[in-house]
Amino acid sequence: MCGIIGYTGYNYAQNILLEGLSQLEYRGYDSAGIALLTKDNQISVHKCTGRVASLIDLCSLDEVDSCCGVGHTRWATHGGVTKQNAHPHTCGKVSLIHNGIIENYYEIIEEYHLADKLVSETDTEVVAALLDTLYESDPIVAIKETVSKLNGSFAFCIMFTDQPGLIYSIRNVSPLVAALAKSGSYIASDLTALIPYSKEYFIVPEYHIITLSKTDITIQDLNGKFILPEILTVNWDIEAAMKNGYPHFMLKEIFEQPDAIHKTIAPRIKNMLPDFTDDSIPNSLFLNCTKLSIVACGTAMHAGMVAKTMIEPLLRVPVTVSIASEFRYEEPLIDKNTLVITVSQSGETIDTLEALRLAKRLHGRTISIVNVKGSSIARESDYVLYTHAGPEIAVASTKAYTVQLAALYLLGCKAALVNDCYSVTQANQFIKNLIDVTDNVKLLLEHTELIQSVAKYLTGATDAFFIGRGLDYTLSLEGALKLKEISYIHAEAYAAGELKHGTIALISEGTPVVALATQTKVYSKVISNIREVKARGAYVILLSCDESITDSSICNLHIPLPKTDDLFTVFESAVVLQLIAYYTSANKGLDVDKPRNLAKSVTVE
Ligand code: M6R
Repeated sequence: MCGIIGYTGYNYAQNILLEGLSQLEYRGYDSAGIALLTKDNQISVHKCTGRVASLIDLCSLDEVDSCCGVGHTRWATHGGVTKQNAHPHTCGKVSLIHNGIIENYYEIIEEYHLADKLVSETDTEVVAALLDTLYESDPIVAIKETVSKLNGSFAFCIMFTDQPGLIYSIRNVSPLVAALAKSGSYIASDLTALIPYSKEYFIVPEYHIITLSKTDITIQDLNGKFILPEILTVNWDIEAAMKNGYPHFMLKEIFEQPDAIHKTIAPRIKNMLPDFTDDSIPNSLFLNCTKLSIVACGTAMHAGMVAKTMIEPLLRVPVTVSIASEFRYEEPLIDKNTLVITVSQSGETIDTLEALRLAKRLHGRTISIVNVKGSSIARESDYVLYTHAGPEIAVASTKAYTVQLAALYLLGCKAALVNDCYSVTQANQFIKNLIDVTDNVKLLLEHTELIQSVAKYLTGATDAFFIGRGLDYTLSLEGALKLKEISYIHAEAYAAGELKHGTIALISEGTPVVALATQTKVYSKVISNIREVKARGAYVILLSCDESITDSSICNLHIPLPKTDDLFTVFESAVVLQLIAYYTSANKGLDVDKPRNLAKSVTVE
């Protein structure tokens, strides 16, 4: 949460910072600001509430002659959305931006008598005040001392008025990447802001002080030892982080799914069998597991729910799915024979990261399914299976979800094979079905007219229900989340058989119910459940593979899905549910890519 950018170099910093903030805005969009260190050693700050576009307007009135500055987009934690609470925060000689949360900020105010120095309600300003108090002439000494007093997570970029052309940075948990280019040095929360300037970058190591000058970036640990970074190369292009003609990132990302799924599975299939050799994942990881424990948040957790429903009957071992923020406090039953699978697009979700750390302390075997290369969760897991979705910019996760499903399916197939739950022939067929997903999704995306008409109906709704059984129920959870987070329509998912135990009381004339009926073994049961809601006035939108359905006693609108093996309909259903949410939100004229109150990467607990 919160986007950070810093630049020092040969060019004017203002435009670079504003462009960077536009790229990073999906990380937080309550307010935005920049601070520039001018040639006469003054700090010039511009900040405002609202979007980066407002900041750009504000800055256009006053172009500052500076080649060194920092910028920030905020997702509010401490203190409301006000100009004063927006970053950067300046105190004395210090100006800084922050992503994260300082848990002991109040104690610091008391201990160092900082109250009189503060004008905002933020934890961040306390750090600026503390740093200014401790700063004599050596920034490294003051930064070291300051961070030794802090509890919490942080990524800071700091400028001192008497350190011209220099930006200092340090982080704990909250992510930062940096790059040295011909035009200068860059640092940012994520690659999307760096990629126009450099394809080579490094991940800022935790608790190391980074000094950026226009010709150099140095890294030293807290004992003063200098280290060289491990340089990584970006494997996607700036185009991938642009809308490329689509009205929204979300729509673009939905349409990128066939390619993303292909890129995720193709390198891991050899002789029509799953092969994780290039990921250095040994078969032994899957042997003698008495339990699989999947831990994640939000959409990633929903991918875990699908995986549980798919994997448990296959392996005949218990598979649990936990919400990461709950897992941490429920004294989980993990031991050396538990395979703990953490799933995360960003690889930075703090609850998932802390859950992973707990699993490791309990001696679980850990593997993560992560989209962002080199992210904290990827680095701290014993093994990682990267998804290859490319950058996901829309806050609502779409392609990251289906590639997580694809990776979890591969993993399930591998575990089944290694444990003799699948024969080679069965595994071959499974892999064939998985490969076919790409074409099936492509086909489905060629005709979205029917889905758009569903969205028209939903646009006027205040509530909606998503129902299904088995795999369809796990899909319903994601369908409901997608709709509520971007269209603000109250949406809930229910196991279809459970409706009559309470929820059916909420169905009245015209209530939209999105019903999924793709699973053969429960098909007749779910159709009965659908008839029950239809009989009570529900407006039923049915997703099924049965092309012959015309019966208006079952549904008002039928979205036929391509016929595939039951295990694999989840991919097509997911895409339909994403499009329903997308078109509903777009019809309502909402900000599809940046829904209210949310941010892309949740690095606060
Ligand atoms: O980066 P992660 O996959 O760990 O993020 C987890 C959730 O915050 C995320 O899936 C969230 O629920 C989605 N943005 C919703 O669309």
